[in-house]
Amino acid sequence: MPIDIAACSAPDDVLSAIAPVWHYFGGAPTPQDGERFTPFIEPSRVFAARENDAVVGGCASFPLELSVPGGAVSAAGITVVGVLPTHRRRGIMRRLMRAQLDDVHARGESIAVLWASEDTIYGQFGYGMASVSGNIDVPRSASAFAQPFESRGAFRILGEAESAAPFANVYERVRLSHPGMISRSADWWRLRRLTDPENRRKGAGELNRVLLSYDGEPMGYALYRVHQQLEGGTTAGYVNVIEAIGASPEATRDIWRFVFDIDWVARVKAMVLPLDHPLFFLLARPREMKFLIHDGLWVRLVDLPAALAARRRGEGDPVVIEVADRFCPWNAGRWRLSTAGAERTTAAAELACDVTALGSVYLGGFTFRQLALAGRVNEVRAGAAARADALLPAECAPWCPEIF
Ligand SMILES: CC(C)(COP(=O)(O)OP(=O)(O)OC[C@H]1O[C@@H](n2cnc3c(N)ncnc32)[C@H](O)[C@@H]1OP(=O)(O)O)[C@@H](O)C(=O)NCCC(=O)NCCS
Repeated sequence: MPIDIAACSAPDDVLSAIAPVWHYFGGAPTPQDGERFTPFIEPSRVFAARENDAVVGGCASFPLELSVPGGAVSAAGITVVGVLPTHRRRGIMRRLMRAQLDDVHARGESIAVLWASEDTIYGQFGYGMASVSGNIDVPRSASAFAQPFESRGAFRILGEAESAAPFANVYERVRLSHPGMISRSADWWRLRRLTDPENRRKGAGELNRVLLSYDGEPMGYALYRVHQQLEGGTTAGYVNVIEAIGASPEATRDIWRFVFDIDWVARVKAMVLPLDHPLFFLLARPREMKFLIHDGLWVRLVDLPAALAARRRGEGDPVVIEVADRFCPWNAGRWRLSTAGAERTTAAAELACDVTALGSVYLGGFTFRQLALAGRVNEVRAGAAARADALLPAECAPWCPEIF
C-alpha cells in the first residue's frame, strides 16, 4: 500500500496525527491530551502519514521563540514524531522529517529544536546534541545547604488562575538570560504548565503551585507533586519538582530550600536541570544529588547564515568552515564565520564538520574544541577550533526546563 505524507488541513486531523506517538505512551490521545498541542500548532505544521485513510505516522512543530546567546530566535519545536509499530522501518519517519524540515525552511524559521526519545534517531537528519540535562534524587536527610541563612521570603500555595501572572512574571525575567528557554503564552502556561488533569498525575497527588515573594514582589515559584508512600510506619515518598525557578540568586536558594523542607517525604526529585545549576554549590553535599546526566536539547540549523546571524558573535579573526549537510544541502559548502556572521566563501577551509556540529555549539553547550577532540570537527588548520569558539561564545549552560 502506498503511504501518503501530507500536512493536516483541519484542527480535527491533529489529534489523529499525534496518535502514532501516543501508541508508545500506552493508548490513544484523549481530547485533553490534544489540548496540549492544538491551541499552539496550526494544522499546516502537523504532518500525517496515511495508508488509505488510516494515519500510521505523524509529526508536528511548535512555533517557538527560543533564547539563544545574546537574544532569541524563531525556532520550530519538533514534537510528537511517531510511526506505528506495524509500519516501522519502511522510511516513513525519514519522509516525515523531509516534509517537516522543508516546511520549517519555507516558513523562515532558522533552527529546529527537539528533545529526543532516543539519542540515535536525529543525528541523521542534521540535529546535533546541544545541551546536557540532569535528573536529581536527593535524600532530604542529605539536603542541608552549605551556608546557613534565614529566608526573608513569603511562600503561598496558589490556585491555577491566580498563579498564572506571577509565575509568568518570574519566568520572563529568567528566560532571556538562559539559552534554551522558550517563550510561553498565557495559554501555554495554562494548558502545559499550570493545569492539573487527573491523567497527568501518574499516581502522584495534585499539582502544587507555590509562589515566593519578597515584600509582595514575586521572585520565585515551584511546581511540584507529592508522591506519598508509607512503608513500615515511615515515609518512602518523595516530592517531584516539576519546575523551581528563582529570578535572583537569593530566590533560587529560597525556593529550593522550600522544596527540600517539605515534611514527611524521604526524597526530592527533579528532572531536566542544567549542568551549571546553583544546587551544586548551594548543597553542602552535592554528591548526594546523584546528578544523572543525559542529552538535553538537540538543535538543527535549518538556515545556516540566518541562524548564526541571530546568535551573539564574539571577537576574533574569521574562520573558514567547510560544512557537510546531506539532508539540507542548501547549507552545505564553505562558510566564512566572522564577528559579522556567516557568508559563503571560496577560501580554503580551516575547519571541516557536519552540520550537526554547528547545532551542538549553537546554544553554547559545547565547543568546537570539544568536538574536535571527539573527531566530530576536523581542525584542518591548527588553532582554528579555538578561534571559532571565540566567535561563537557561550554564556551559561543551555537550559530548557520543560520537555515539549
Ligand atoms: C523512531 C520512529 C519514529 C522511527 O520511525 P520509522 O518510520 O521506523 O523510521 P524510518 O524507517 O524512517 O527510519 C529512518 C532511518 O532511521 C533509523 N531509525 C529509525 N528509528 C531508529 C531508532 N529508534 N534508533 C536508531 N535509528 C533509527 C532507521 O534504521 C533508518 O535508517 P536507514 O535509513 O539508515 O535505514 C518510530 O520507531 C517510533 O515511532 N518510535 C517510538 C516513538 C518515538 O521514539 N518517537 C520519537 C519521539 S522524539
